Amino acid sequence: MADQPVLMFDSGIGGLTVLREARVLIPDRRFVYVADDAGFPYGAWEEPALRERILTLFADLLERYDPEISVIACNTASTLVIEALRERFPGHPFVGTVPAIKPAAERTRSGLVSVLATPGTVKRQYTRDLITQWASRCHVRLVGSDKLAALAEIYMRDGFVDEEAVRAEIAPCFIEQDGARTDIVVLACTHYPFLANRMRKTAPWPVDWLDPAEAIARRALSLLAAQRAPVLPAAAAERADIAVFTSGKPEFATSRLMQGFGLTVRQPVTA
Ligand code: DGL
Repeated sequence: MADQPVLMFDSGIGGLTVLREARVLIPDRRFVYVADDAGFPYGAWEEPALRERILTLFADLLERYDPEISVIACNTASTLVIEALRERFPGHPFVGTVPAIKPAAERTRSGLVSVLATPGTVKRQYTRDLITQWASRCHVRLVGSDKLAALAEIYMRDGFVDEEAVRAEIAPCFIEQDGARTDIVVLACTHYPFLANRMRKTAPWPVDWLDPAEAIARRALSLLAAQRAPVLPAAAAERADIAVFTSGKPEFATSRLMQGFGLTVRQPVTA
């Protein structure tokens, strides 16, 4: 119990958008960031194979790192496997990341909302159920993007991205209908907030880009046991936050990025 970390899980670097919020809200915990980069991108996987892969990975991760909670900082994984994870590992708290359809439905004025996500998240029954449950009075367009998660990885690694490719991927989000226009785009993949400025620049008109990262971090905070005393600088060195990659060999630029987020890259886990 004493020093159990918070485990953050994604297929790649997208979970960092949640980690940066969690760090601010939960400064008293250690973080273990796990990127299943050997399985990236998750968006294109067949559901049964991806489900098995993540369940198998978590059996190992929970034993290896003994986290206090695990945050599935990935919509593509959460919408598929969050319930199975809770069933398989009862007693361990999991925080999921699912498309922010409810807040979008509450906030939209025009009633036209788009959900931008991976092809996997778009086709999930979980996502369809969220729309039926929370947004039946809105017109919700699901936009599956094959490329945006990889473009976000490139942008964060190399510092530039093909803006025309971003423009093309987000274009189907924008609808004009009976004098009304889309006014909210839900960023339903944790990679996408990294491209938010490029999206703003290439969008045909301004919209509210909904990023759920802070809400996910708040949910994680609410599940943790009592707060601990702030970590003193001398102790901080011994309790470094770490990042592990299932490939075992993140590129130099990715390791640098992890360092920028205060994470030390450690030995791999196996899938
Ligand atoms: N970051 C993941 C998500 O939130 C998706 C990236 C991928 O395609 O693997 O859905």
